Amino acid sequence: MAPATLALPGGIKHVSELPVEGKRVFVRVDYNVPFVKGTKTISDDARIRATLPTLQHLIGRGARIVLGSHLGRPDGQVKPEFSLEPVAVKLAELLSLDIALADEPAGDGARKVVSDLRDGQIAMLENLRFAPGEEANDDIFARQLASYCDIYVNDAFGTAHRAHASTAGMVKYVGEKGAGFVMAKEIEVLSRLLGEVDRPYVAVLGGSKVSDKIEVLDALLTRVQTIVIGGAMANTFLAAEGRSVGKSKVEVDKVAVAKNFLRKASMAKVAVLLPVDVLTGDGIDDTSPLAEKVEHLSEHRMALDIGPQTIAKFRAVLAEARTVFWNGPMGVFEKEQWAHGTVAVARALAENKLALTVVGGGDSAAAIAQAGLADKVTHVSTGGGASLEFVQGIDLPGIAALRP
Ligand code: 3PG
Repeated sequence: MAPATLALPGGIKHVSELPVEGKRVFVRVDYNVPFVKGTKTISDDARIRATLPTLQHLIGRGARIVLGSHLGRPDGQVKPEFSLEPVAVKLAELLSLDIALADEPAGDGARKVVSDLRDGQIAMLENLRFAPGEEANDDIFARQLASYCDIYVNDAFGTAHRAHASTAGMVKYVGEKGAGFVMAKEIEVLSRLLGEVDRPYVAVLGGSKVSDKIEVLDALLTRVQTIVIGGAMANTFLAAEGRSVGKSKVEVDKVAVAKNFLRKASMAKVAVLLPVDVLTGDGIDDTSPLAEKVEHLSEHRMALDIGPQTIAKFRAVLAEARTVFWNGPMGVFEKEQWAHGTVAVARALAENKLALTVVGGGDSAAAIAQAGLADKVTHVSTGGGASLEFVQGIDLPGIAALRP
């Protein structure tokens, strides 16, 4: 039986409830991991480590594990630079086990590694997106994948917003199905954000593009009391308020969208906090940041992080919050001189012990890990786009497929 805390909504079974002994179990994982530029060295293996509990559970039960994942966007073509080989090597090292990697996602090679599996062993299919049928959710490809298993487990929350053959199409052709430990935890924690949460509920949104976040911003207007906006997208909002933002990055075609959003927020009585000061530079390699008020931004400089007064303002709001959802950095956090705002938000979440604090994947997950604070918040999601869609209340296809 699944532990009580993992009781899942909609009758979804937890992997620990499935009769996996001696069975071929297809586990959809999200090993879409980043690499050090131009190398085969994985720069962040968090998504691989996250799946270890599911794999260890299945190994312990003597299941025959078939792993399926995508890596990058090879567009339905075999591109060696997107091979899962370095991922298979990393996983083998983490589990201290041999892992057979098929040379293709489906076909004779794949069938062979699956049929050679013994109880407690793992085979990995090559990048599922090498096959055009994966993203097209093609029925023939879905049936092919389904023929490699008796039981389907989805542990790829990060890909749950994609209706692809391995996340949606194949599931109906497999007798038993369920959620792995990663998926179950994500559903359990993120669902809490959709119900009655403790107030104030504060959302912190950052990152570079308004266009990436406008849907979630709109959806959050019905749920939160305050929206804090930082990162390059804040420039577009400042421009919408009529401020001159120097050489800062602005999505000119989204200024009207930003203006409209500010109007809707005011009608919904949701407070929107924008930066009052920013750290500026000539460009991201400038190592001499200057704190400037947003009213007096120099024409030739660009905003690359939030400033000290803004940090103080954001921290005060976050200290009072009882529920926080954070997605997107406050500046170019990859460079130390522009990471202050992002690290300050990470610290504010970590210090608030009374709040449910959820970090929605992608850059913010990398930033909180970089700050060494990942274990000080309630939950760091493994999904970027998936967590953004989930908190909007969208029924993700990869989760819908797991319901009876
Ligand atoms: C992610 O990294 O967000 C997921 O793996 C999904 O990848 P995609 O955006 O290429 O579908």
